[in-house]
Amino acid sequence: MFVWAGISCSRLLTSASYKTLFTRKAHFISFLDQGVSLPLCKGTRRTFIPVQLYQKTMSMYQGGGSNSPDDGTVRVIDMRSDTITKPTPAMRRAMAEAEVGDDVYGEDPTVNALQEKAAKLFGMEAALFVPTGTMGNFCSIMAHCWERGSEMLLGDCAHIFIYEQGGSAQLGGIHPRTVRNKPDGTFDLDEVESKVRTSDPHLPITRLICVENTQNICGGRVLPLSFLKELRELANRHKLPVHMDGARLMNAAVSLNVPPSDILQYCDSVSVCLSKGLGAPVGSVIGGKKDFIARCVRLRKVLGGGMRQSGILAAAGLLAITEGAARLHEDHENARTIAEGIHSLDPSVLQIDLDTVQSNIIVFQLVSHAVTPGQFCKMLNTYDPNDSLDIDVRVSMLATDFKRDIRCVTHHHISADDAQLVLKKFRAVVGRVAGMKG
Ligand SMILES: Cc1ncc(COP(=O)(O)O)c(C=O)c1O
Repeated sequence: MFVWAGISCSRLLTSASYKTLFTRKAHFISFLDQGVSLPLCKGTRRTFIPVQLYQKTMSMYQGGGSNSPDDGTVRVIDMRSDTITKPTPAMRRAMAEAEVGDDVYGEDPTVNALQEKAAKLFGMEAALFVPTGTMGNFCSIMAHCWERGSEMLLGDCAHIFIYEQGGSAQLGGIHPRTVRNKPDGTFDLDEVESKVRTSDPHLPITRLICVENTQNICGGRVLPLSFLKELRELANRHKLPVHMDGARLMNAAVSLNVPPSDILQYCDSVSVCLSKGLGAPVGSVIGGKKDFIARCVRLRKVLGGGMRQSGILAAAGLLAITEGAARLHEDHENARTIAEGIHSLDPSVLQIDLDTVQSNIIVFQLVSHAVTPGQFCKMLNTYDPNDSLDIDVRVSMLATDFKRDIRCVTHHHISADDAQLVLKKFRAVVGRVAGMKG
């Protein structure tokens, strides 16, 4: 049976392939056989791609989740990321009732309230609401690297380096130079220092150091304050600013049990996501000095991020940094419960280093070669009568087949009871995998 996922394919089918499909009947049919049906209403290029095909193109997101039924007989527990969180009822109410104005004129009272509150929380002079974490990082980097020929130093596992399309180079002309991230998300400070450029017309000019906290690819690792302090001293010696990609800064603060300003005392700027574990539907906040934020305002505008009556979004953001932040410890507790449960399972199938679980991200290793990480995730996300569970539990996680790592993330849709259900499903699937030949 096909499950149809509606996807606008105007890009996929704009070029020659689109013409080929329409002009050559045989090709058309064979394309259909592969599961692509075509249009369609006059003038539109909307088509439908079966989920199977869709998942091939989006292999990183294997495991799916949000498309599965969740009608009471099935419990779908989507742990692919904290980015899938939906706004709480209180956020939806606040959004409906938000006072708004034109934020490009600086006249949206709700955006202004969010920015003031965030600046205080960060212990910084000013803050700016932006649509996404990617834009928050990009504006910050550009605002620090104002001159041409600038270079930034950052970890080779940094989200900015790996997952933001190289935007700072692509759009900003900034040269990224990496230092090796250690498994705990930090880097060797001697290596950083050795990579600060000397003044030489052959070389770019080092203008910025970036860190990420919590470090996503390293498994949500929390940067120790002692590391940040030493990095600050190094940066001061070379008169360099430090930017923190603090997409999950509030998780780091909860994990260290300190206010965010204690972490940010070592940084010149930060970009914090409201739309991940904090639960807002959209938005990030940049923090920094007033003149830095003034440059970010210009950059946000040229990038098309001047959002007018964005108080509707900021209203959810205000609840994100208050109520959303106040409950993050629950996500960390649930992550620990799940990690400890995985640790107690058959080590010939799964292994996990419990010390690596410091926030809401859990990364564990599939040791058994009886199945691939992708197949293991599929088993977690599929009903099997042999599992003998009271209800049909389907759990979605992310796997990368080139590593044997599987990642899952806790967030506000996952309760302590869900954590127990996840472990029941794990026990069942691990039992089945243990019985297969590796
Ligand atoms: C560490 C980190 N930084 C930045 C971002 C980018 O955020 P956005 O998706 O809002 O652009 C993400 C997104 O997952 C992230 O994990």
